[in-house]
Amino acid sequence: MTTPYALATEIINGVAVITLDLPGSPVNKFNRGLRDEFLALFDRLERDLNVRAAVLLSGKKDSWIAGADIEDFLQIKSAAEAERMSHDGQLLLDSIHELRTPLVCAIHGAAMGGAVELALASHYRIATDHPKTILALPEVQIGLIPGAGGTQRLPRLIGVRAALDMILTGKNIRAKKALQIGLIDELVHPSILRKIALQRANEIADGTRKHEKRSGGMTGFLLDENPAGRRIVLKKAREETLKKTGGHFPAPLAAIDAVAAGLNSGPGKGYREESRLFGEMAMTDVSKQLIFLFFATTALKKDTGVAEGEVNPADVMPINKVGILGAGFMGAGIASIAVQQGTLVRMKDADEGRVAKGFAAVREILKDRLVRKQITRQQLSDTMSLLGGSTDYSGFESIDLVIEAVFEDIGVKHQVLQETEAVIRPAAIYASNTSTIPITKIAEAAAEPDRVLGMHFFSPVQKMPLLEVITADQTHPSVTASVVAYGKKLGKTVIVVRDGPGFYVNRILTPYINEAGRLLDQGVAIDAVDKALTDFGFPVGPITLVDEVGLDVGSKAGKIMHEAFGERFAPPASMQAVVASGRYGRKVKKGFYLYDEEGKKGDVDQSVYSLLAPGARETSSTSGSQHETRTTMTATEIQQRTILPLLNEAARCLAESVIRSARDGDIGAVFGFGFPPFRGGPFRYIDTIGVAEVVRQLQDLNDRFPGRFDPAELLVAMARRGERFYPES
Ligand code: NAI
Repeated sequence: MTTPYALATEIINGVAVITLDLPGSPVNKFNRGLRDEFLALFDRLERDLNVRAAVLLSGKKDSWIAGADIEDFLQIKSAAEAERMSHDGQLLLDSIHELRTPLVCAIHGAAMGGAVELALASHYRIATDHPKTILALPEVQIGLIPGAGGTQRLPRLIGVRAALDMILTGKNIRAKKALQIGLIDELVHPSILRKIALQRANEIADGTRKHEKRSGGMTGFLLDENPAGRRIVLKKAREETLKKTGGHFPAPLAAIDAVAAGLNSGPGKGYREESRLFGEMAMTDVSKQLIFLFFATTALKKDTGVAEGEVNPADVMPINKVGILGAGFMGAGIASIAVQQGTLVRMKDADEGRVAKGFAAVREILKDRLVRKQITRQQLSDTMSLLGGSTDYSGFESIDLVIEAVFEDIGVKHQVLQETEAVIRPAAIYASNTSTIPITKIAEAAAEPDRVLGMHFFSPVQKMPLLEVITADQTHPSVTASVVAYGKKLGKTVIVVRDGPGFYVNRILTPYINEAGRLLDQGVAIDAVDKALTDFGFPVGPITLVDEVGLDVGSKAGKIMHEAFGERFAPPASMQAVVASGRYGRKVKKGFYLYDEEGKKGDVDQSVYSLLAPGARETSSTSGSQHETRTTMTATEIQQRTILPLLNEAARCLAESVIRSARDGDIGAVFGFGFPPFRGGPFRYIDTIGVAEVVRQLQDLNDRFPGRFDPAELLVAMARRGERFYPES
């Protein structure tokens, strides 16, 4: 028998109470050792006739089992090996399902992936009514599918529709919802979890408690029990998935295939398909890139933002009170996430009306969470009570951190900084949310510039996952570390970026947008540009993005970058003409695209073509309509023209230490503006194409359009040395 390692067992009146507590790890994870230990334990319990039932609990605080150890996936060398791994998992869970002694899973805290599959194979599931208790099958988020029976057992338990919803999104299901959909059998208060679990184990062993199988309610039942209905559900799921993923993510489609195989041809075929498809998915490049992003995000959660030993942990200031200057769009967004983390917030704006508008905006954001049942009415009002506001600096004497989000105007920024500094404590930190003004320039007005830095949030703040923390030369490292820690507390993925025009995200975005504009100058159709880039995997095309951000905002930022970096950042004629005409994009319901009353985007606004640079359009001899006369260009050429300058600029940022690492650069692009995650980010993508090939393509373009595509020195040097950004996987 294996020596007990992670599983402790205590027999109480014939019930084996098993506590899983993986040593040396903050969470429980499945690995090969644990699998062997489970097998040995259940074998022993099965032969011990004094044991009538078993209960499985976690020894970790507020966390049940986090699923498989993803590190193990990195070691997989072939599809056959991954297939075997999945098959082994299926066998283990099958043996649990077939136990003489029924198993009750007592779930408190997160149950992810394999943990849910284990619970599905058990005989009774109790979860605690606690915010930390969530169940999810997040495999598709790393390009895989549930591989230990999840695609087979879940549809049978909760119905095919609810099962697909869980498997295809990977979303977290709260305990209450899990009870509603039949994923768990019972919901209890954490304080009685163990007691009730023991009681249920006894009852099931005695035969005094039978639990009924529920299957997604009446509609779910009707659909599941009839093959025609099932076919419709599966067909619709395939269509919706293709639409949502643009065909770039194979795992959700594979998961549908595995579910379909089980439903149509029985469990034997279903389990085989699940394993086979798991094996296939584990070998995809998409999965490798998504796993990279998962690890990079995890690593950033542990990153202090400063070099090791640079800051004494005692000097990292806890942020409990925040003052926000400007209760506008960004100020209110920032306030909303701060109060949700329990921070006391004071918003200051120029007049009462604007403060009131800020309050209303925060309330709206919280209300949206209420509607989605993510918070209760009580939580909403408790959270709102943390928010205060005024037109003066009252209350600012005791705050820890100021976040400035006033107009993007250096004069206003300097004025509010000086006013604030006169009031705040010497230890308080001052962060600007500017999107374009260098922090060094803002800090020029400060009496104590070492406490000034940038917190560059993205809009909408409550949704966008990234935060760039901008450090200037004079920023004190303890200030950086304190703000990075707080940014993480706000739920953001934080990258530390060195001060400079556009910081990182906007700096690499600008040449991409500019080049898209130049394609319009050259006569390419607006929708052709956008489509080429959504085909590449961006959530929206660059011209749509410009309409979203606002052409006025974009052109102002573009001007600053042009001044800073010269010709390679020169704005395209098309954008200048369109912004000069007052078409600022969606907010004014007039831009490159048509917008209805609600601001919903329609087709390209054909009238905008008359504004584009003279001579840009081909002359049409036959057709009266202008859009039919646009130059045709292949999607590949459009993609190269726009993406190569982005990659090139990212390399420059790394060479100039604007970003600390390729990893930060990849995370920034994926989480900041939706660089296709299945490509891993700009640096991972350069590695995929090959540095030398990227240099060759840039040089080709530079021959045609001198100046704009001059390859970054770093890339040229790396190509010469045959280097990559990441080790080959
Ligand atoms: P906004 O116009 O919605 O809000 C600015 C607010 O500042 C207004 O309510 C205004 O009354 C207030 N304000 C002006 N002078 C003030 C003063 N002396 N004292 C107190 N309040 C004052 O603008 P938005 O979009 O919220 O932008 C704010 C900052 O955030 C700008 O620096 C902008 O560049 C930056 N930013 C904006 C993003 C966006 O997508 N809108 C994204 C990232 C950063």
